Amino acid sequence: MSGRDCCVCCSSAGQATGVQSWKTMFSSNILGAAIVLLGLMFKLLPPVSGQPGQPQTCPAASEISPCACQVKKNGLDILCEATDISHINKAMGTLKGKSPIIFYLKLPHNNLPKLQGFVFLALDIRHLTIHNSSLAAIEETALSSLGKGLTQLDVSQNQLSNVPSNAVKNLHHLLIFNINHNKISQIHNKAFEGLDTLEILTMYENKITSIEPEAFRGLDKKLKRLNLGGNELATVPQKALSILDTLKKLEIQENKIKKIKDGDFEGKTLRRFIFLLL
Ligand SMILES: *[C@@H]1O[C@H](CO)[C@@H](O)[C@H](O)[C@H]1NC(C)=O
Repeated sequence: MSGRDCCVCCSSAGQATGVQSWKTMFSSNILGAAIVLLGLMFKLLPPVSGQPGQPQTCPAASEISPCACQVKKNGLDILCEATDISHINKAMGTLKGKSPIIFYLKLPHNNLPKLQGFVFLALDIRHLTIHNSSLAAIEETALSSLGKGLTQLDVSQNQLSNVPSNAVKNLHHLLIFNINHNKISQIHNKAFEGLDTLEILTMYENKITSIEPEAFRGLDKKLKRLNLGGNELATVPQKALSILDTLKKLEIQENKIKKIKDGDFEGKTLRRFIFLLL
């Protein structure tokens, strides 16, 4: 106790001495002049950008038309609406030459029945939305180059009849995967294998009638929210759900589940669901 008192006393005494010696230094004319000079030099330097790395700039509008580009805090925001693959390919080609961070690439209301391989190669895309674009097939190599940066993938309101497992299996930073409003009828074993960082999976309004027991294998360490609402499930997919140790919220409303059987939610964490609608 007394030892501690001693140390507090001594160190603050040391600080007081320090302040005094700084005062002495500031009063020195030479040092004062040096500080003024330093201040001037900093004023002449260009302002330091808030982001590390180079500031992002949009290509000329004519180079990516009919797509549009805006600069956002964390990168570019690119919108290509109501167009087709050849225009989108051309815009992507322009962007490749400039290698910006594309924070949002939004492709709504397009005619894109098939997403071709390598379409986004050499692009750094963080959030990708392909919404209401007649998307029915995603080639295996269409998204694989985005594995280091993509955190959100939204392919809602399309024509997918299967989980595009091969196309997404390399997305090792994905946090949110939205496949709402498609035509998926079955979820096969290991449909999401490789998506080991995924936290939110939403498959609202598909045509899901069956979910195989190992369907969610690979999501068992991180998945927090799962939306299976608006499908055609007749029973709770108990086996598939039971491996999801980290799940906090399950939505399974608007299905054809008539009754809950004993054991439907027996998994060790399934009892902890915050939210369950039937
Ligand atoms: C989907 O896109 C088409 C154009 O391809 C558009 O006419 C239609 O209104 C869009 N539907 C919705 C629900 O946004």
